Amino acid sequence: MMKRWIERIGLRLWKMRPQTQLPDSESEELIRIVNLCKVYDTGTMKVVGLRNINLSIRRGEFVAIMGQSGSGKSTFMNILGCLDRPVIGHYYLDGIDISEMDEDQLSFIRNKKIGFVFQSFNLISRTTARENVELPMTYAHVPKKEREERAVKLLERVGLGARTEHMPNEMSGGQRQRVAIARALANDPPLILADEPTGNLDTASSIEIMELFSALHREGATVVVVTHEEDIAAFTQRIIRFRDGQIISDEKNEAQERKAEEKGRTS
Ligand SMILES: Nc1ncnc2c1ncn2[C@@H]1O[C@H](COP(=O)(O)OP(=O)(O)OP(=O)(O)O)[C@@H](O)[C@H]1O
Ligand SMILES: [Mg+2]
Repeated sequence: MMKRWIERIGLRLWKMRPQTQLPDSESEELIRIVNLCKVYDTGTMKVVGLRNINLSIRRGEFVAIMGQSGSGKSTFMNILGCLDRPVIGHYYLDGIDISEMDEDQLSFIRNKKIGFVFQSFNLISRTTARENVELPMTYAHVPKKEREERAVKLLERVGLGARTEHMPNEMSGGQRQRVAIARALANDPPLILADEPTGNLDTASSIEIMELFSALHREGATVVVVTHEEDIAAFTQRIIRFRDGQIISDEKNEAQERKAEEKGRTS
């Protein structure tokens, strides 16, 4: 009884503790992660997905997440993408503390703030490219005409202006992934996440997709990409490496910076 009472007081005091300062929605910082942990409970055992992650990502950054299989990359991306919540710690996205949100609030945030691109494209079959791109706008109650026009514009943006009425199974892998990227951009989210977006593509299509992400980054988008391949990470500005659920390095991609500088000088 006494123990329970002490625990309850403890919990109340803990809730009253000073909160970490929130990044406000105008600040340079888009993401702040504080002491984040994720444990999976399989029923028979607990598996640590992430341990004590601290990180911030500025608006407009282009980041690669790397690490061996099982190192926590997807666990991390699912939390960034609000598909999952941390068990301990805080995740602030655009000034909002995601850790405190309920399911409805999370799905609202996913729709407005995040564009997610998956390895397996996750397009709806027997539905045209345009309708696939329209879907997030339908959830956001964008009027039909506006949605159609924007979907066509986005498909033109990713080089698929001539394919708007095609079904996913009538397109190549690279083209399907470009539809998925157009869909991710539908509600103009501040954050674009891609978990091994080139994992199912040949080299030529992989380069096309990474060039598309680079172009979006140059236009100001914040892009986080998980990859196993150094060649793919080489397109980004910053490489964060995971091992056993922890960040083991977080470095600027110097080669990419030099390339961008050279490009700036020659253009
Ligand atoms: N739903 C789950 N239930 C239990 N354990 C899980 C679950 N999802 C992931 N894990 C465990 O969490 C750890 C991190 O997995 P995660 O999927 O994040 O790795 P990853 O870096 O994305 O690997 P890969 O490169 O193979 O995609 C692993 O030990 C994994 O077994
Ligand atoms: Mg993974």
